[in-house]
Amino acid sequence: MSGAKVVVIGQGYVGLPVAMRAVDVGYNVVGFDVDKRKIDGLNAGKSHIDDITDADIVAALATGRYAASIDEASVAGFDIAVITVPTPLREGAPDLSYILAAGEILAKALKPGATVILESTTFPGTTEEVLAPLLDAGSGLENGKDYHLGFSPERIDPGNLEWDFKRTPKVVSGVNAESLESVKAFYDQICDTTVPVSGTREAELAKLLENTFRHVNIALVNEIGVHARALGIDMWNVIDAAKTKPFGFMAFYPGPGVGGHCLPIDPSYLSWQVERTLRTVSRFVKIANDVNDHMPDYVVNRVQLGLNKQRKSVNGSHVLVLGVAYKKNSNDARETPSTQVIEQLLELGAIVTVHDAHVDAFHLDDRAPRVELTEAVLKASDAVVLITDHDDVDYDMIVANAEYIFDSRHRLEGDNIDLL
Ligand SMILES: NC(=O)c1ccc[n+]([C@@H]2O[C@H](COP(=O)([O-])OP(=O)(O)OC[C@H]3O[C@@H](n4cnc5c(N)ncnc54)[C@H](O)[C@@H]3O)[C@@H](O)[C@H]2O)c1
Repeated sequence: MSGAKVVVIGQGYVGLPVAMRAVDVGYNVVGFDVDKRKIDGLNAGKSHIDDITDADIVAALATGRYAASIDEASVAGFDIAVITVPTPLREGAPDLSYILAAGEILAKALKPGATVILESTTFPGTTEEVLAPLLDAGSGLENGKDYHLGFSPERIDPGNLEWDFKRTPKVVSGVNAESLESVKAFYDQICDTTVPVSGTREAELAKLLENTFRHVNIALVNEIGVHARALGIDMWNVIDAAKTKPFGFMAFYPGPGVGGHCLPIDPSYLSWQVERTLRTVSRFVKIANDVNDHMPDYVVNRVQLGLNKQRKSVNGSHVLVLGVAYKKNSNDARETPSTQVIEQLLELGAIVTVHDAHVDAFHLDDRAPRVELTEAVLKASDAVVLITDHDDVDYDMIVANAEYIFDSRHRLEGDNIDLL
């Protein structure tokens, strides 16, 4: 391994932790990204994700074995390449353009004996049917014979201190036994546990199963939660009771909707492929999308009812939205349900302000300006809507000063609070 070169394509939530661990264990690492702002920041010792500190980046740079680069030439001569680029949806269909762009860059630099690993979440068959032909054609080499190729789904859970990249078991796969061995050997050095599976398609589907499982279970508690509220039953008490069963139950909690890069998107990779190739429908994904997508509507509806009880209309009311990140203690606002809630409140004529100390910029900033969390701001708000319950917020101060709070996270207690 000494002197071996690892290239990580994409230095985002997934790629940066991989790059840092590879530096930790002694590899020479290039973090390649097309985003100049991120690359400049990294080379100046600044991290753009919560789970990696500035000190981690400074320490990695100080080893002389980490450099972030926007220059394609920097990938030349790699021994191991890991692809961690986005896999979004475009008009409801998988957008593999980022994987294709990464593959083209790597194909030009591919040498015999090297290993290429895809980590981006995608539908089964992507590694062997999309990436492999591209790498073969661009390099003149044959996957599985001249170079190793595999898929290893990422399991990054931003903000999860217990299950970080190193501790979380890593599923590994290859296009053949030799490729699997090479992929496994790499992750055996940077992760505590690797889990070899029989093929790349199994590994690709395992990731989609994990995320669809979560998506469906969240939708289930969201739907039962809405019904429970209408029946006058506290869903959180129900879940607390159910989770005392030591087997056959796993607690999921209702919320204002799902966000981030996984749940709103990944299950649709599965349903898209099932519909396209099997001409049938992924019913669970469809229902889960439907339930989870409508949770922001439900939140707005409940806020409307809450204001109504106080003889106020949403139109003209001052509404403070707390939290725009899609999950607590995170700075990630991608696909956040806050967007829907804010847009709907604005459409109804509310004067919306926002507070979130974790998220730097938010595309609705001009229509829903940022405010500091002060007693005066809280007192001037007709409603406070808690969407993201970051831990570093003074909730006692909020409860003491706000007239009416809608709490979508079941975080607060008090007479002025409506729970989801
Ligand atoms: N973040 C998570 O919690 C999470 C969870 C599950 C799955 N995933 C999956 O992991 C993959 C990566 O997600 P992420 O959260 O790290 O995204 P991200 O947006 O944080 O990072 C991706 C990076 O890739 C860069 N990039 C785009 N095109 C590139 C190219 N051609 N060459 C080099 N860099 C390029 C982007 O500039 C960006 O910095 C996706 O498939 C996503 O679905 C992420």
